[in-house]
Amino acid sequence: MLTLVTGLVLAGLTACGEEQEAPPAEETVAPSPSQDAALIENGRAIVEMQCATCHAIGVEDDSPRSDTPPLRTVLADYDPDALADDFREGIHVGHPDMPDFNLGPKGTDSVLAYLVSIQERDGEG
Ligand code: HEC
Repeated sequence: MLTLVTGLVLAGLTACGEEQEAPPAEETVAPSPSQDAALIENGRAIVEMQCATCHAIGVEDDSPRSDTPPLRTVLADYDPDALADDFREGIHVGHPDMPDFNLGPKGTDSVLAYLVSIQERDGEG
């Protein structure tokens, strides 16, 4: 008789089973920054955690610190590929106050894709 009761309880429980959408597999990492939405999203998450304390990370916010350029402007001075190289080697882009980052190839591509996506530019995109 016990088994019968258990069966009923279990049947009731399965009704509220949760379904989660699996995140898309991100196996393909482009060698250069792309406009891939998943990469950009990933990059935004990294930048929010690692850079937002000092840099403006959005398209129109101001940097928390007056001595930091908003990230949406940095590619005006930096070629994305050159910056990507810096990131890959662990970023040290020439200022003592900014910590070195080691984002790895995937993180680098993500951050670069995000940076490209927020750059100020005329007209296109
Ligand atoms: C602790 C503060 C701090 C953090 C965190 C930080 N930065 Fe910076 N960053 C700075 C400062 C300060 C400058 C400006 C230095 C200068 O102009 O000499 C700067 C400048 C830059 C520049 C321009 C480099 C140059 O020499 O003009 C880039 C690109 C950059 N940061 C990217 C990033 C990215 C990407 C992240 C997150 C992964 C990040 N920074 C996190 C402080 C920070």
